[in-house]
Amino acid sequence: MTESVVLPAEQQAPLEGVITGEVVRMYQEVAEHPEGEFHFYHGRQAAELFGYERDWLDRAPPGAVASFAGVGNPHLRSRIQPGETVLDLGSGAGLDGIIAAWQVGPLGRVIGLDLNPTMCRKAEAHAAASGVRIACHEGRMEDIPLPDGSVDVVISNGVINLSFRKRRVIHELFRVLKPGGRVSITDIVSAKQLSQSIVNDPKLWAS
Ligand SMILES: C[S@@+](CC[C@H](N)C(=O)[O-])C[C@H]1O[C@@H](n2cnc3c(N)ncnc32)[C@H](O)[C@@H]1O
Repeated sequence: MTESVVLPAEQQAPLEGVITGEVVRMYQEVAEHPEGEFHFYHGRQAAELFGYERDWLDRAPPGAVASFAGVGNPHLRSRIQPGETVLDLGSGAGLDGIIAAWQVGPLGRVIGLDLNPTMCRKAEAHAAASGVRIACHEGRMEDIPLPDGSVDVVISNGVINLSFRKRRVIHELFRVLKPGGRVSITDIVSAKQLSQSIVNDPKLWAS
């Protein structure tokens, strides 16, 4: 039987809790056991594939590099300037935030945001180990705990695809941007409507 019918968003709502649980579990697993097998590229191999500068990867704490779980390179177009305030949406183990912190310098600020408090503490510890500061907020990208117009740049790497409420996320990130602010997002999109069996599979969402 082919599955061409996809349930409307409100009927998918009960799935959200299950999928969020799997998302939390999966990325914490990458952070705690990066040597494990995952069905997506991660760590230094992924970062090199996406064109991260070798110098960054040599300079960042090994734990942040090994647990990197992005899907691209948001730094290629972010044009981050010294003194700016950057929000790293879904900051994970912190590699992207650390790279942003080097770019904003001592007069700038990097704010992390992650659903999972364990990831937030990891990102902050990795930043401290590389001599910079990330203030990571535990929270959801669908309801960003920051005031309107408070950040110059939003970066995000492989995170928005994990949300059930992507329009809401986009609305939120434009809300927190200052007028003239910028976004640099790398993420996964599908050109085709995914079948209900894929949409219903927490493991496929969390990848
Ligand atoms: C693909 S990883 C981020 C990779 C990261 N940029 C790096 O440098 O490794 C996804 C992260 O987003 C977080 N996340 C997932 N859903 C979220 C949500 N709704 N709100 C905030 N963070 C979320 C996960 O806990 C996970 O740490």
